[in-house]
Amino acid sequence: MRRLLPVDGTDEVDLAALYAPPPGRHVRANFVVSTDGATTVDGASAGLSNQADRDLFHLLRSLSDVVLVGATTARRENYGGARPSGGRVPPPIAVVSRSLDLDPAARLFTDTTVRPWVLTVASAPGDRRTALSRVAHVVDAGEHSVDIPTALSVLAAEGLEHVLCEGGPHLLGDVVAAGSLDDLCLSVAPLLAGGAGDRLVAGLPLVPPVPLRLEHVLEDEGTLFLRLSTVRG
Ligand SMILES: NC(=O)c1ccc[n+]([C@@H]2O[C@H](COP(=O)([O-])OP(=O)(O)OC[C@H]3O[C@@H](n4cnc5c(N)ncnc54)[C@H](OP(=O)(O)O)[C@@H]3O)[C@@H](O)[C@H]2O)c1
Repeated sequence: MRRLLPVDGTDEVDLAALYAPPPGRHVRANFVVSTDGATTVDGASAGLSNQADRDLFHLLRSLSDVVLVGATTARRENYGGARPSGGRVPPPIAVVSRSLDLDPAARLFTDTTVRPWVLTVASAPGDRRTALSRVAHVVDAGEHSVDIPTALSVLAAEGLEHVLCEGGPHLLGDVVAAGSLDDLCLSVAPLLAGGAGDRLVAGLPLVPPVPLRLEHVLEDEGTLFLRLSTVRG
């Protein structure tokens, strides 16, 4: 990994320092895209990732208190549960779901050392809620849609202040639209993937667009690692 920006005369890259979140509540997203903006290859993000991206994925998890993920990503990518890494208690996974169409026997709920969270809505089906309550903390954060600020307050009240949103694009769209995103870690792979998949941020257009400030650019084997922070008016 080498640093391209900012240029300050040193090549030294201390990833833990570069990505350390500030104290207090902080919401970060981590995504990988192809150079033409695809967020998936053949339905998953794995084909976009290199080893440095996978290492950064794990580092960002280790710096977070909780991993926030949309139910479609959890289902399609057969999300694993939280497992210890480097002797540290892993951050729990918090899945956002309206339908509660989540299998309580999935790895996410069974192969984990930390009880996951399910952030849902009051109108969610009762039978699924009952089943998931046996394997997860199931919490309402809205009537028909999870209200992102409410969900973040629920997590913060449990001491889960450093939130790492791992997508997908629809959940990120809701996080951005709510004005809740602080920091975007974006890996740009040297690949063209084509297709008509979702952009990084799905949902309604953001008018005016949300301004970001480029904090740094790193590079490894042609993949660019950008960290951008949200500029608030
Ligand atoms: N390139 C990358 O870095 C990256 C990262 C993540 C994901 N992905 C890819 O992105 C695809 C999935 O992304 P996606 O955008 O389609 O889906 P997503 O954001 O992962 O999940 C959408 C689902 O999350 C729930 N949800 C999201 N916001 C909600 C809200 N405000 N209230 C209630 N429920 C809410 C709903 O679940 P229910 O349907 O259960 O109600 C909704 O259908 C996958 O193919 C995955 O591989 C790529």
